[in-house]
Amino acid sequence: MDLLSLRLGGFNLATLAVAVGAFHLARVAFSFLILLRNTYLRPATNLAKFGAGKGAWAVVTGASDGIGKEFALQLARAKFNVVILARTKSKLDTLAAEIKAAGGSEVVVHPFDFSATDQPTWSALAAVLAPLNVSVLINNVAVNHAFPTPFAEEDPALLDSIVTVNVGAQVRLTRMLLPGMVAARRGLVINVGSIAGLVPSAYLAAYSGAKAFLRTWSRSLAEEVAPKGVRVQHVNTHFVATAMSKLRKATWLAPTPKAYVRSVIASAGANADGTPYPSHAIITWVLNTFVPEGAAIAKSRDMHLDIRRRALRKMAREAKRE
Ligand SMILES: NC(=O)c1ccc[n+]([C@@H]2O[C@H](COP(=O)([O-])OP(=O)(O)OC[C@H]3O[C@@H](n4cnc5c(N)ncnc54)[C@H](OP(=O)(O)O)[C@@H]3O)[C@@H](O)[C@H]2O)c1
Repeated sequence: MDLLSLRLGGFNLATLAVAVGAFHLARVAFSFLILLRNTYLRPATNLAKFGAGKGAWAVVTGASDGIGKEFALQLARAKFNVVILARTKSKLDTLAAEIKAAGGSEVVVHPFDFSATDQPTWSALAAVLAPLNVSVLINNVAVNHAFPTPFAEEDPALLDSIVTVNVGAQVRLTRMLLPGMVAARRGLVINVGSIAGLVPSAYLAAYSGAKAFLRTWSRSLAEEVAPKGVRVQHVNTHFVATAMSKLRKATWLAPTPKAYVRSVIASAGANADGTPYPSHAIITWVLNTFVPEGAAIAKSRDMHLDIRRRALRKMAREAKRE
């Protein structure tokens, strides 16, 4: 018997198949329109609603380099005062001088190691931040594996550091600053996530797991505090040309920190979970729409194995030269 001519409870199976196909196509088309709207058509966020130009402060973690440095520069340009946190004081001082030379914003430099867990270190940070009217927090700092490595062979100290910095420190700092934002009924917390938090990433297991935590925690928190006037936003990030990615040249897929941060700030607070950079957004849409999760996980595993092989070859060459 012809399967499509089967009738199920009065429905012709062929009609049902066409209806299901049309529904699926409509969903894909709709999600593509949302992608276009979010990526290309949405007007940039007016940062005045988060205190820009009104004496409010933005706290940026991991601010001495890469994406964090660019956040500090662009938020200062948008008329926030900025607190810049990272370990290397000399780099923070240079950045502070650059911001001050551009005029307008105040800068507080506070060298800080986010792998610290002791109370005195955190109390000292709290004492620096308490007098400031902080309305923006950029949780940007993160530690990654030096290169893809089997979990069972990874340095235990590095694994501790990934969990402490990428999970513990974000939670602690947010807990410190959120009450002030809630009391003021004004605030923005941006959590810089990674595609590794979306696609379970073999050979970067601890980093991938920490970024998955960041995403779910961030979205949960967003739901809690949105009615209190505070926006919490997770930003899904693919490659950006920084020291962490080891990409020296920007490409369509791996922008400069400047271009990347510009896209994040333009969509600041727009949604609880977004992929602000256009090429990253397109890839995420393709992954979510067409690629089975198992295939994405396998592809990520193969990519990391390839990166690992190349990193090991490079290390062997360098060892030979010495
Ligand atoms: N670049 C990418 O392709 C990419 C892709 C996906 C997601 N991301 C995410 O984007 C964020 C920024 O990455 P990035 O590429 O800009 O990295 P980066 O260029 O390596 O910069 C990292 C920053 O964090 C600081 N830092 C590192 N460990 C620290 C610690 N223990 N305590 C305090 N500060 C510390 C570094 O300064 P000091 O050394 O002076 O402390 C530096 O300012 C991270 O959350 C990362 O996971 C990046």
